[in-house]
Amino acid sequence: MSMPKLATMRLYVLAVSVLLSMAVQECAAQRSSGDHSPLVAPLAKDPATSLYTISIKDGGAPLVIDLAGPLVWSTCPPAHQTFPCGSRECAAANGVSSPLGCDNADDGTDGGRHDNRRPYCSCTAHPCRPTTSGRPCATGDLTTFAMSANATDGRSTLYPVSFTAVGACAPDRLLRSLPAGAAGVAGFGRAALSLPSQLAARRGFGRRFAVCLPGVVVFGSTPIYLKYYPVELTATIAFTPLAKNPRRGGYYLPVKDISVVWDGVTTPASLPPRALEIDAWTGRGGVTLSTVQRYTTMRADVYRPFIRAFNASIGKPGYVKSVAAVAPFELCYDTYSLRRLKRTGWNVPTIHLELGAGASMNWMVNNGNSMVQMGDRTVCLAFVEMGPEAGYGTPAPAVVIGTYQLEDNLLVFDEDKEVLHFSGLLWGSGATCSGFNFTLAS
Ligand SMILES: *[C@@H]1O[C@H](CO)[C@@H](O)[C@H](O)[C@H]1NC(C)=O
Ligand SMILES: *[C@@H]1O[C@H](CO)[C@@H](O)[C@H](O)[C@H]1NC(C)=O
Ligand SMILES: *[C@@H]1O[C@H](CO)[C@@H](O)[C@H](O)[C@H]1NC(C)=O
Repeated sequence: MSMPKLATMRLYVLAVSVLLSMAVQECAAQRSSGDHSPLVAPLAKDPATSLYTISIKDGGAPLVIDLAGPLVWSTCPPAHQTFPCGSRECAAANGVSSPLGCDNADDGTDGGRHDNRRPYCSCTAHPCRPTTSGRPCATGDLTTFAMSANATDGRSTLYPVSFTAVGACAPDRLLRSLPAGAAGVAGFGRAALSLPSQLAARRGFGRRFAVCLPGVVVFGSTPIYLKYYPVELTATIAFTPLAKNPRRGGYYLPVKDISVVWDGVTTPASLPPRALEIDAWTGRGGVTLSTVQRYTTMRADVYRPFIRAFNASIGKPGYVKSVAAVAPFELCYDTYSLRRLKRTGWNVPTIHLELGAGASMNWMVNNGNSMVQMGDRTVCLAFVEMGPEAGYGTPAPAVVIGTYQLEDNLLVFDEDKEVLHFSGLLWGSGATCSGFNFTLAS
């Protein structure tokens, strides 16, 4: 497999000169414009998979957003730019600790070319599909993708901006189980090559981004206005310090306890001691957020006491009628026995994830995010028990908050301050996550 040495050298020189000229062009472009404007991009929800895609890559095909993902990856044309193994980008792409339960890279098409220790090889990275259990991975060249998005002042859409992002090439088979038409994944995790990290480094607008499912993503420090709601949201919503899991790249909430509150009565879930804590050594535990999982899952030792508390709370007044479970849910109720609230759905208990560490209030899951209609007269608590832990090497989080629980919640991640601003369910306010004004200013 080894190429003649001269050819290898030529390729290397070519790659370096391409990189240099790109770097120079980029410097020139940035100097001339000095543009630090935040960027906005629309999201779309794929009805078949319930995954969310961002339209940001040139060529039209959207990318699935993965809040915990370390990388951007996509399929590549046969001719694409590469990075030398010794590059900073290559180190960043491979320095991340392997993602949750990532299998070994499984397509051994590499021969000698993909050995990142060789000085004149081209760099490879290890994109993984986030959605299926087992998280299949592949090996692909590190490359750059051309992208564009609109600048924004947080109120409306200003003008288009082009940029490039470093990411990994992936084989077509890694697209399986992603929405039809999606070209890859945009990782939003706490890693140097996640999309928000790259944009922050490039545009100098603060290591901050906002996600509001199912409608919009905003990169950079900016006020945010949604729909006709006149109030600037980022200044008024709650905040919590983010917790860190040294073994995982996702975003964690410092949750101490879980309780269920209805009509002023609090029913605590009797969790085993330390059930929610993060084990810094193995990475097990913690309460984390996911944009690739539909319903919130809880590890069995957390789920059992939680649903007991919820069922006890809703049962207390005595008028709510339980009905047969509808898989994958366990607690279902007859809607004829529930009261309706004016704007926000069924009158049911509120779930409190009790935050410590100086958070301004608890993370509350309200009716619109907690109950799902499963039949004419049936609503179910939209929480699911996690599968059994696969054992050593794949330690499970305690709770993974899924997208059903995150929709129409504004989340503003501030990596400079290690803080998450969160709105809770927006419905009552008149703002919605689909309410960003995408009409381009003329
Ligand atoms: C900018 O916004 C306009 C109007 O929403 C849209 O048509 C256009 O595709 C956007 N441009 C980019 C680069 O996203
Ligand atoms: C929930 O509570 C009701 C009434 O108190 C009971 O009949 C039902 O079995 C409980 N469900 C579960 C899953 O514990
Ligand atoms: C949306 O933005 C456009 C362009 O800036 C503006 O003309 C329009 O009035 C805005 N619409 C609303 C409802 O604010």
